[in-house]
Amino acid sequence: MAKSKTQFSCSACGSITSKWSGRCEACGEWNTISEETPLSSGPSSTALGTAKGRTIPLTDLRTEETPPPRTHSGLGELDRVLGGGLVPASAILVGGDPGIGKSTLLLQAASQFARSGLKTIYVSGEEASAQVRMRAQRLGLTEAPVQLASETNLRDILTTLEAEKPQLAIIDSIQTMWSDNVGSAPGSVSQVRAAAHELTSFAKRKGMAVILVGHVTKEGQIAGPRVVEHMVDTVLYFEGERGHQFRILRAVKNRFGPADEIGVFEMTGGGLSEVLNPSALFLSDRGEPSPGSVVFAGIEGTRPVLIELQALVAPSPHSQPRRTVVGWDGGRLAMILAVLEARCGIPFTGLDVYLNVAGGMKINEPAADLAVAAALLSAREDSALPADTVVFGEISLSGALRAVGQTENRLKEAQKLGFTTAIAPKGGKSPAIDGMSLNRVGDLAGFVGDVFGAG
Ligand code: TYD
Ligand code: MG
Repeated sequence: MAKSKTQFSCSACGSITSKWSGRCEACGEWNTISEETPLSSGPSSTALGTAKGRTIPLTDLRTEETPPPRTHSGLGELDRVLGGGLVPASAILVGGDPGIGKSTLLLQAASQFARSGLKTIYVSGEEASAQVRMRAQRLGLTEAPVQLASETNLRDILTTLEAEKPQLAIIDSIQTMWSDNVGSAPGSVSQVRAAAHELTSFAKRKGMAVILVGHVTKEGQIAGPRVVEHMVDTVLYFEGERGHQFRILRAVKNRFGPADEIGVFEMTGGGLSEVLNPSALFLSDRGEPSPGSVVFAGIEGTRPVLIELQALVAPSPHSQPRRTVVGWDGGRLAMILAVLEARCGIPFTGLDVYLNVAGGMKINEPAADLAVAAALLSAREDSALPADTVVFGEISLSGALRAVGQTENRLKEAQKLGFTTAIAPKGGKSPAIDGMSLNRVGDLAGFVGDVFGAG
């Protein structure tokens, strides 16, 4: 048996090193490396043999497989993100910052699933059952037949699940669980990994669906749920800015449905409520058209969403001007600024640039490039775009504009919300939508000329 020696692991990405360092070489995060007790390497047989194994049944590809029956929670936004309801015996990870509303969402989901007939157990390792009950009372969920437990010992939890045979178990959170055959503290990478492995393999064996809650912390104090991602079928992230009431549930991995699907919720005094028309919500605070504000017609998952982008450009008092981005990729902003300078001769040197995606939304689509450029130019020139215009399109390094997919869906959504003009790249399909005029531009320089007069 190999002698187990000290090893170190990164709480953000889970990579293993043999010595401590301040920065993880694999993912580049600071202060995430900590000492770990390695998992036992299992039985010490030197070679796998046929002696005690059993033959596993093989099937061929022709065997017909019926799609799994799904249970709907009745929370439409959650069901869509799951890919059309909960699949039996699936393992789901719900990650998010502390305090963002994971427990609230899952308590609501638990009661909905229980009401639609699933035997549901909610295990909290963070709150006492009385606290969970109080929250349920506040949310008006006390009628739902959900079984509660407050426990962190994995062995006891598995024994209970074995005896109760629920169809859905919710574990809040995976970082509080500890397994007595791992020596390190709860929340450490090896504990989180061991607990997640035990729970997911138990779930698969028994045909029970399991939802694991995982906290993500920027400081990496608690093991990030990253190490759990590959063990589960579906990974959902619950995002949002603490100061905003919007919360977005995003599927980043889904074996049973499309990834990148989002569900939009609003945090109210009575818990999370579904937002059926996110575009209207994201644009609701928009006042008179102001310089720097541009509406981007985006696609999130299978759904079009209109989102307001806001830019501010101001002379910088610093030798190193600021580039601050909220809700978008900072590297992408630098690229667009460089393209504007190199291809259109519009410099941003000596200017601070701030870019904000309204409503606490995060955008990953390259189609937002043109809208970002429009917001930057509009802020720089201090001239507002017409209020009834939406913008979308990808910008390449040459300054050319690239057509993006789903033009028709974007236009329809814009039309539904009262917009009349869309600015989009040349090429691709040109769907005719009543009351929407499509203004096609070939490259960024042309766009600058069209919209802001010769840059
Ligand atoms: P919680 O679900 O405990 O977050 P997490 O489990 O992700 O750590 O949510 C905590 C926040 O949600 C808390 O700041 C208060 C707020 N909240 C409401 O605004 N309305 C409610 O009805 C509930 C239950 C919580
Ligand atoms: Mg919680």
